[in-house]
Amino acid sequence: MSAYRDLRIDADRLYASLDELGKVGAFPDEFSDREGVCRLALSDADAEGRRLVKGWYQAAGLDVGIDRIGNVYATRAGMDMSLRPVMTGSHLDSVPTGGRFDGALGVLAGLEVVRTLNDHAAETRRAVTTAFFTDEEGCRFGTDMLGSAVATGRIDLEQAWSLTDRAGKTLREELERIGFLGEEPVGERTPHAFVECHVEQGPLLIRGDQEMGVVTGVQGISWWEVTITGRAAHAGTTPTSYRNDAGLVAALINVRLREMADCGEYGEMRGTMGVVCPEPGAINVIPGRVEATVDLRNPDDAQMERVEVAIQSDAAKFAEQHGVELTWRQTAKTAMVPFDESVQKVIAGIAEDFGLRYTRLIAGAGHDAQEWAAVCKAGMVFVPGEDDGISHNPREFSTKEQCAAGANVLLQAVLALADEDGFR
Ligand code: GLV
Ligand code: MN
Ligand code: MN
Repeated sequence: MSAYRDLRIDADRLYASLDELGKVGAFPDEFSDREGVCRLALSDADAEGRRLVKGWYQAAGLDVGIDRIGNVYATRAGMDMSLRPVMTGSHLDSVPTGGRFDGALGVLAGLEVVRTLNDHAAETRRAVTTAFFTDEEGCRFGTDMLGSAVATGRIDLEQAWSLTDRAGKTLREELERIGFLGEEPVGERTPHAFVECHVEQGPLLIRGDQEMGVVTGVQGISWWEVTITGRAAHAGTTPTSYRNDAGLVAALINVRLREMADCGEYGEMRGTMGVVCPEPGAINVIPGRVEATVDLRNPDDAQMERVEVAIQSDAAKFAEQHGVELTWRQTAKTAMVPFDESVQKVIAGIAEDFGLRYTRLIAGAGHDAQEWAAVCKAGMVFVPGEDDGISHNPREFSTKEQCAAGANVLLQAVLALADEDGFR
């Protein structure tokens, strides 16, 4: 147990920082009195959030470095700088209709950890690096966990730079435009351990009356872009037998995904068509073309393979029936990633010491920690969310107490890991 076992973060300061960051890219929710955020990766709002947090890192006296993919690292020195640091962090980018906490909590809890260490002039054996990573969400450039995947070697830097958004802008040109194309080569940071605090983004903790989650791993993710090409024709004059309706085939694929998820034959699968764009998109024109996406999740890699094969084979049948062409392009894929048992044990031990009701659970969403797990031991602390943990929605909300509990567990986990022996 660390000499600083009684240290606690400043909950008011953490929540005030969340509030201030939450104003960046804010928009009012149509359905509640909450505000959401739109900070698409490398947009002006993302840039503003990045500058704000980078300023906070600098004000905390941290050594700030930016790598070639725009990840920002801020290090507080340890007593033995020959040892690998403990790293914590998350992301500042959001989905178009994001909440204030997804990613932001992990980034600001990391900042709060170092602010707390500073307040108490605490000395840690290993350095502590707190960070934010580029384009975790993947909504704009098509691939999730991009910055951390490049930093840890799963995705090649040049390939990541060349990704484009719908307007044809490359990721590299956008990084340059917002001033976050850093000098530091990627792949040079190998932490001793990585730990991330994040909102659960689901109902399990709150429904189970749990105050905290120890994350056991992250389920597999498979993302596809599907292009359906039929023939545009007149809505009033074209009998059904003359139609090649791309919109209808998109709908059939969507319904089939739901049937597959509900039938229980593909494990704990989830399937979502989040983008369905018919062209020309006019009331009286049968869609000639649809650009769509398919998001598949599964904690079992073998079941994921079965789902990928089954949905494409069923879609091919729909396409044949309706005389349309289909192309599938994979835009992201990650296998199920289990988190290190010893990190889970550290987190669970702290939750027990704090007297928190906690449970172990698998993450339904993707997270930066799963990429860092490729290069060091990694784990995550989950904080419950109100309203059944709703997320990717402006109503996403965790109380000051919930956030503070997560940040305090993070603080103690960082302290315990920073104290660990080891050759490096
Ligand atoms: C990232 O938030 C995801 O889509 O899981
Ligand atoms: Mn997130
Ligand atoms: Mn998210």
